[in-house]
Amino acid sequence: MNNFLIDRRGESQDESSISRRTFLQYTVAAVSSFIGILAGVPLVGYVTGPLQAKQKVGSWVSLGKVADFAKSNDPQLVQFTITQQDGWTEAQEGRTCWVVPQGGNSFTVFNGRCTHLGCAYSWQTQGDWAGKFSCPCHNGIYDRAGHVIGGPPPRPLDMLETKVVDGQLNVFYEDFRLGVPDKTPI
Ligand code: FES
Repeated sequence: MNNFLIDRRGESQDESSISRRTFLQYTVAAVSSFIGILAGVPLVGYVTGPLQAKQKVGSWVSLGKVADFAKSNDPQLVQFTITQQDGWTEAQEGRTCWVVPQGGNSFTVFNGRCTHLGCAYSWQTQGDWAGKFSCPCHNGIYDRAGHVIGGPPPRPLDMLETKVVDGQLNVFYEDFRLGVPDKTPI
């Protein structure tokens, strides 16, 4: 009889301790999951926030004095930096334009990135491609007006909007999607 009682009590204690242990395990798991969700929400926001907040490049940039560009008939390379805002961070990035004199105070300005994959192209003054723009990456060739005359570029050079203010040549600098026929700002 005693043995039975002892056994039953022991069994009862085991069941009770198992169920308490199980309850505690479930509770810890539930609390951990809840904390994980709470911690995860701001993390997701932190990771995706900057992507959503990314800004476009488009802005007016002063390239220099019109009088200086007018001194030569050759296209001239201009280098400058832009400020890229990416979420909470700001970065200075280098960009280039080619200023092509058209006579007097008239100029055409091209974005300095090849429309194929974005390499830097340059004006050639000698050799086979003298009087043309050439891109060394895949032998893309453009004429002075920016038309493709050789290689893989899918569209002409990207012409930018310009204006003259107080004797300074200004350009509305934008980047465009690369490797596609349409000129689409990014
Ligand atoms: S990046 Fe200029 S030809 Fe390919």
